Amino acid sequence: MSNVFILDHPLIQHKITHIRDVETGTKMFRELVDEVSMLMAFEITRDLPLEKKTINTPVTTAESNVIAGKKIGLIPILRAGLGMVDGMLELLPSAKVGHIGLYRDPKTLLPVEYYVKLPTDIEERDLIVLDPMLATGGSANDAIDSLKKRGAKSIKLMCLIAAPEGIKLIQENHPDVDVYLGDLDEKLDEKGYIIPGLGDAGDRLFGTK
Ligand code: PRP
Ligand code: URA
Repeated sequence: MSNVFILDHPLIQHKITHIRDVETGTKMFRELVDEVSMLMAFEITRDLPLEKKTINTPVTTAESNVIAGKKIGLIPILRAGLGMVDGMLELLPSAKVGHIGLYRDPKTLLPVEYYVKLPTDIEERDLIVLDPMLATGGSANDAIDSLKKRGAKSIKLMCLIAAPEGIKLIQENHPDVDVYLGDLDEKLDEKGYIIPGLGDAGDRLFGTK
């Protein structure tokens, strides 16, 4: 079964509180999502394998650590996942970025895919799917299906806020995908919004309604 990690670093928790706050406007919301994503990047990369490299310091030769192994791919789910990309790239500047466009039909709450553009070598990369919200889980579930169909072998999911319903769906359908969260909320309302949540992530990020 997928592991679920709540990244409880105080800086992440503090910034998520401000992100939730209805008084936080678009500019500040965007900056906070960017900062939290960078902090979460720090935590989600904790298990990256290291290998030794021989280097010359100004005084001697040394065996020192560098990151080994597979390369990383960031996969934001459009639109709101876009807000998490720059923060991640601050710490992972060589990552490639693929995009999956999905929106949730407001009546059925089911995701509709409208765009997919991925790095050609996704099967060799450790992929991190980015979306601020994991509500019913339909969007993330479909995005992961889409990546696996195209050959992805290693996938993590990173969200700012999740509902138990979304976690359950990912654990049932994608037990190999670990989930990294800023916070786990109580439930969904009748329109599929996370309670207490932060409202509509895309609208708050881009100033739409
Ligand atoms: C939001 C959010 C997720 C999805 C989560 O996107 O960014 O992608 O809803 O809901 P789910 O877990 O129930 O699928 P939305 O559909 O509003 O599209 P947008 O980002 O383009 O506004
Ligand atoms: N999508 C959002 O943007 N917010 C929610 O609470 C649920 C889905």
